[in-house]
Amino acid sequence: MTRPSKCLRSVVLGVGSYLPQRRVTNAELATMVDTSDDWIVQRTGIKERYLAGEGETTSVLATRAAQKAMAFAGRTAADIDLVIVATSTPDYTFPSTATMVQAALGITQGVAFDLQAVCSGFVFAVATADKFLTSGSHKCALVIGAETFSRILDWNDRTTCVLFGDGAGAMVLEAQEGEGTIADRGVLTSHLRSDGRHREKLFVDGGPSTTGTIGHLRMSGREVFRHAVGMTTDVMVDAFAATGTTAEDLDWFVPHQANERIIDASAEKLGISPEKIVKTVSLHGNTSAASIPLALSVAAHDGRIKAGDLVMIEAMGGGFTWGSALIRW
Ligand code: ACO
Repeated sequence: MTRPSKCLRSVVLGVGSYLPQRRVTNAELATMVDTSDDWIVQRTGIKERYLAGEGETTSVLATRAAQKAMAFAGRTAADIDLVIVATSTPDYTFPSTATMVQAALGITQGVAFDLQAVCSGFVFAVATADKFLTSGSHKCALVIGAETFSRILDWNDRTTCVLFGDGAGAMVLEAQEGEGTIADRGVLTSHLRSDGRHREKLFVDGGPSTTGTIGHLRMSGREVFRHAVGMTTDVMVDAFAATGTTAEDLDWFVPHQANERIIDASAEKLGISPEKIVKTVSLHGNTSAASIPLALSVAAHDGRIKAGDLVMIEAMGGGFTWGSALIRW
């Protein structure tokens, strides 16, 4: 007998992450552009980031993060039938980074595709995997956020180049039967939004069908800041409403790691206690789609996030895109 879809949940079995070899402090950046450790820390909370070197492509970072997540989950290539890579910095225009990762991991069944929602990419990918798994069409998903933003930064523009870093994080999700209550382990709800009218506030000024180049990231930082807190808290309120939970019920808040001031303001607006916030922005900078799985991996492996914990993830990024997912670990 087929299981009713309302009882299938996408349960997190493991997470893993991988960073490039080269760590770059604010002090080192200050030798490259006119900036200072003080300015960067005060405005963003970022102290250091990792930058990919030769051979450290997005698919290489993604594959290494995936191997760690699969080992932690106790799942092999034979188990995975869905690979989604959230990235805005693919190795090539095509094929997708996901199919390259699929091949590198020796996965020969199922489907693999990229998903592009900039910094919201990982939340969008978790929500997408959840639809596949809870429909019963697929059984075990590898969801990855991986970026090499250093390749699309304008290293002469101090207003953007100090903010970003490279890295990858991965999560293994498996369809398992639940009771259909919020006590179930797994993704309990997800809420995605986008509004293309905000394009010019955060974009890359090149691409295959316009300039024929990869282009550089351009951002009106103040404009992004102005919208970020309202948008991310809106979708978290949607998640609370859909599940009948409140900020008090959360064990962990794992936001997109763009800027410490945005993170703190969002938490404060919703009454989320500071000790429940997982912050890795000081260590990694803004790694776009990789930032949430990197943070989840740090907090799961250091013992903070444990089975049964209620975890809120949220992000906002270029487009604009924004979204949240509430997960019982
Ligand atoms: N070092 C030193 N000075 C700098 C730097 C730098 N790296 N960058 C800008 N400045 C200067 C500016 O030139 C300006 O100088 P001026 O007053 O003489 O003209 C001054 O600092 C203030 O610049 P602002 O841009 O107004 O600084 P602000 O306080 O707004 O901080 C920041 C800038 C950090 C970018 C902020 O707007 C921000 O965090 N915005 C959100 C950006 C973000 O998080 N984006 C990512 C979200 S979406 C995604 O993740 C892709």
